[in-house]
Amino acid sequence: MRFDLDSATRRRLGYRVIDHIDNFFSSLPDRAVQLPAGQRSFDPLSNPLPEAGADAESLLDNIFGELVDKGFHVPSANYFGLMNPTPTYIGVLAELIVAGLNPQLATTKRSQLASKIEHETVRWVGERVGWSGDFNGTFTTGGNEANFSGLALALAAKFPSVIEDGISSLGVRPVLYASTEAHHSVDKSAGLLGIGRKALRRVPLTRNLQLDPQILEQTITADLAGGLKPFCVVATAGTTNSGAVDDLVALAETCRRHDLWLHVDGAYGGSVIFSDRHRGLVGGIEQADSITIDPHKWLAMPLAAGVILTRHPEMLERAFAVAAPYMPQAAESRNVDNSRISTQWTRRMNSLKLWLTLRVHGRRAYEEHIDRQLRLAGSFVSWLANSEHFEQAAPQVLPIVVFRFKARRLGPEALAAAHSAIVEEVTGTGQRWISETKINGESVLRMMVISYLTEQRHLQALQEALTAAAQALA
Ligand SMILES: Cc1ncc(COP(=O)(O)O)c(C=O)c1O
Repeated sequence: MRFDLDSATRRRLGYRVIDHIDNFFSSLPDRAVQLPAGQRSFDPLSNPLPEAGADAESLLDNIFGELVDKGFHVPSANYFGLMNPTPTYIGVLAELIVAGLNPQLATTKRSQLASKIEHETVRWVGERVGWSGDFNGTFTTGGNEANFSGLALALAAKFPSVIEDGISSLGVRPVLYASTEAHHSVDKSAGLLGIGRKALRRVPLTRNLQLDPQILEQTITADLAGGLKPFCVVATAGTTNSGAVDDLVALAETCRRHDLWLHVDGAYGGSVIFSDRHRGLVGGIEQADSITIDPHKWLAMPLAAGVILTRHPEMLERAFAVAAPYMPQAAESRNVDNSRISTQWTRRMNSLKLWLTLRVHGRRAYEEHIDRQLRLAGSFVSWLANSEHFEQAAPQVLPIVVFRFKARRLGPEALAAAHSAIVEEVTGTGQRWISETKINGESVLRMMVISYLTEQRHLQALQEALTAAAQALA
């Protein structure tokens, strides 16, 4: 079968897929996250590579059905999981447009309006940070790439020769700092950038699970005395485990005092800037030198969409621009080409979904979304306060709640085993999903409200499942 399908076929197949997606969306408020435990399969597929084609309609029906029937559905209202959301439907349609038009955003000359939309979306996000005028940024594939980009900017800013000559030419050992709760993409980035993972100093936490500014100060002082070259602090606005937000104002002050680059990993929590009411939760974020914000987390975008922003726009080109004679330049454009300010070269338009969602729903839809999720998380905390079996294990700042089984006579290992048994019990039918993790080395249970479809009734069902699991354990 040739690739150039006729119009009637394109329409028939396209409408069919839209019908499937529509059915799936209708099912999400009550959909099980996955199959019951005994029916899940992790074996690899073994189909031979197809030499000849088959009927498209039945293949699309089959694969959609199988993906739905056997899939793990983060968009379900019953997913209290890590940070992947139910995507906005407008975002889904935007992805269809992007795939259909296939714009290439490496250069403005070859994308024009698409690049302008991307730049405008970056400007909107930066304006919500509280910046005006001289800032820039670019879309990424997610928080990992955005954090990598932030560290590359920090390196380029503090050691300008490193881009051409490499770290080994410095003659000093650069070191950077992040809390013990910072996301592990920071370790990955430090390794890939040649700084070395061991150069990442993990600073202990305060009681509120924030990076401790006093210990940071002592560590920097000791490193300077030891001949090392501190250059960057990575603060987290919304840790993956507990949603804690580091004291951004205090860390900005430390960075100013020691001339360090402040990168804020707000991959999840940074999006609270879209709420006028709650943006104070990340107060001080505007003092960052660079910021990661992932629209594919709290802003309910389909994967993938991250953003790296900086108020030192010239550093983007210093870190990423490489001249290439075959790349068409638009002399008349005021926007820098994306390939010159990004780790990517050929690039997909990851911005249209956010641009269109904002155009269709308006920022105030996010104001309500964020407020509602915070209230739901607060109600879960109130339930914990009255629970016979569970207690809160850390302060709730964002819509993430960590808690533990109340069993005072259990040692750490037995408590961790109890938590695993509870998670297994609660997730066993596949209907809902929560997780366990460790904070400061201690086992905790974790739930978060991430789907815009989650309502009080879903929390109540989760609470009933948790209570039943605890009773079974007792
Ligand atoms: C705080 C934080 N930073 C960075 C990342 C990495 O983002 P991504 O998975 O989009 O690459 C995550 C992922 O959950 C995260 O929670």
